[in-house]
Amino acid sequence: MHNLLQQIISRINGTIALSFSYQAEDTAVLHLLSQCQINSLEVFTLDTGKLFSECKKLHTETEEFFNISIKKYLPKSLDVENLEKTLGDWGMRESLANRRLCCHVRKVEPLERALKGKSAWVTGLRAAHGVTRSSIQIVEYDEKFNLFKINPIAFWSDEELFAYIKEYNLPLNPLYSKGFKSIGCAPCTRAVKEGEDIRAGRWWWENPEHKECGLHIKEK
Ligand code: ADX
Ligand code: SF4
Repeated sequence: MHNLLQQIISRINGTIALSFSYQAEDTAVLHLLSQCQINSLEVFTLDTGKLFSECKKLHTETEEFFNISIKKYLPKSLDVENLEKTLGDWGMRESLANRRLCCHVRKVEPLERALKGKSAWVTGLRAAHGVTRSSIQIVEYDEKFNLFKINPIAFWSDEELFAYIKEYNLPLNPLYSKGFKSIGCAPCTRAVKEGEDIRAGRWWWENPEHKECGLHIKEK
């Protein structure tokens, strides 16, 4: 895969950004990127203020493993203050509108800043994540952010992903061994039972077709 990724990357001028969310997908993609020749790479995370403490530990572990620095983009403090006044701690679970507002303040707006001036955006998206992602491609054009979006492991299965992590002994979020299959913010993520869908633990009170926080909505 890294040969194909190298070919794609060689056609891009300017800075490439990898969005890193402390999930196995992003670590595998970071490992693939580390085998490519890239002139300018920024690895960044959207630190929503609601992440699990396990993710904070993995931040340092990943930086040390790859000898990189992961840049944090934080939500605007005034927006968070207003959000907390309106929603309290758990209001995001009360309606789709509340949840989307929280995701907008804590994730989407910071992503807009993170992608400003970048030429390409690399993610750990996979088609296996569910209905909202079944039609993703390895290379897409993101109309909203006006850049190439690269999803190197778009067609990897769960088994392929975890075999890759094991093969290279890559740092892994300890939440996976506690029953988590997908990892987002703490108030909106739970462990899943054997046989449950991979994203069943994300926004579990919502319908599958709504399970997007807005980062990966391509329309303007
Ligand atoms: S989400 O939209 O439902 O939250 P998901 O958790 O599946 O997304 O992650 C898909 C990809 O989106 C990740 O591989 C990563 O590239 C990006 N991503 C999601 N959350 C974050 C985050 N907090 N910081 C940086 N990137 C993120
Ligand atoms: Fe807010 Fe939950 Fe979205 Fe995180 S995932 S930004 S806590 S609504």
